[in-house]
Amino acid sequence: KNALKGRDLLSLHDFTPGEINYILDYAAELKQKQKEKVDHQLLKGKTLAMIFQKSSTRTRVSFEVGMYQLGGHALYLNAGDLQLGRGESIADTGRVLSRYVDGIMIRTFAQSDVAELAEYAGVPVINGLTDLLHPCQILADLLTIREHKGKLAGLKLAYLGDGNNVCHSLLFGCAKTGMNISVAAPEGYLPDEEIVTAARADAVETKSEIVITTDPKEAVAGADVVVTDVWASMGQESEQQVRANIFAPYQVNARITAGAAPDFIFLHCLPAHRGEEVSGEIIDGAHSVVFDEAENRLHAQKAVLGLLMAD
Ligand code: CP
Ligand code: NVA
Repeated sequence: KNALKGRDLLSLHDFTPGEINYILDYAAELKQKQKEKVDHQLLKGKTLAMIFQKSSTRTRVSFEVGMYQLGGHALYLNAGDLQLGRGESIADTGRVLSRYVDGIMIRTFAQSDVAELAEYAGVPVINGLTDLLHPCQILADLLTIREHKGKLAGLKLAYLGDGNNVCHSLLFGCAKTGMNISVAAPEGYLPDEEIVTAARADAVETKSEIVITTDPKEAVAGADVVVTDVWASMGQESEQQVRANIFAPYQVNARITAGAAPDFIFLHCLPAHRGEEVSGEIIDGAHSVVFDEAENRLHAQKAVLGLLMAD
């Protein structure tokens, strides 16, 4: 029996290592089926509501195309156009949408809003990014790393930059799969302590090592995978200039990656800012797998949709 059916995907922390590996295996299987044009219409007649309170290219398109490829249908709902934008509660929105659709994906600011939606919705709720977490992105990242490195456990991943949503979900993703992770961020922008504590608890079982430092050179030393993300996330546009100065020593460029493993791969969830968090030579160079990573959003999320929503 599929233990994921009917569940929500709010955080990777809520899943066992076995469940995460199962999602990745299933994603690889669905990816192969799609490439070979083998039928995999697992969600015929099913509908996914997608609520967006922030911009999106990859999340929107990959969920919408994914639902279509699975034989279902997706609805793009701009939060500002919903009654939610005029004060209807999250609870009522969740209860109402559940009478029409088979699943809800939401991209918003507060993680607590996603949790509240999940509490009141009678259908699976999927976190399509909050200020705190970005679990779907990290499933795609893990799939990409596995494809390029042939394994996850025992690899070293270095994350440089802001201790943000992507960094938090990477902490969980690495802790759950036995990857060692070193995060380097400036003082004041380190990852959330509660998240780090929860990830360290996850890491006990898998023996994943978690290092949090302010030293980018230390983090990158010997890394098999180097990751960064935008310095000013959605909602932080006014801090852009201040952050650009503070984060400058954390740019992923040829100088810093000279300390990584010779065959390191570079990941970035995109959108990227060349000359800020990453140099053009790295993101457009031989080590970069960012477009495989973007493609894998589709395959990883199809696995999630299938496991959570299929009969
Ligand atoms: N990586 C990612 O989530 O991209 P979008 O913001 O375009 O969805
Ligand atoms: N940290 C970024 C990720 C974008 C996909 C943001 O929240 O804007």
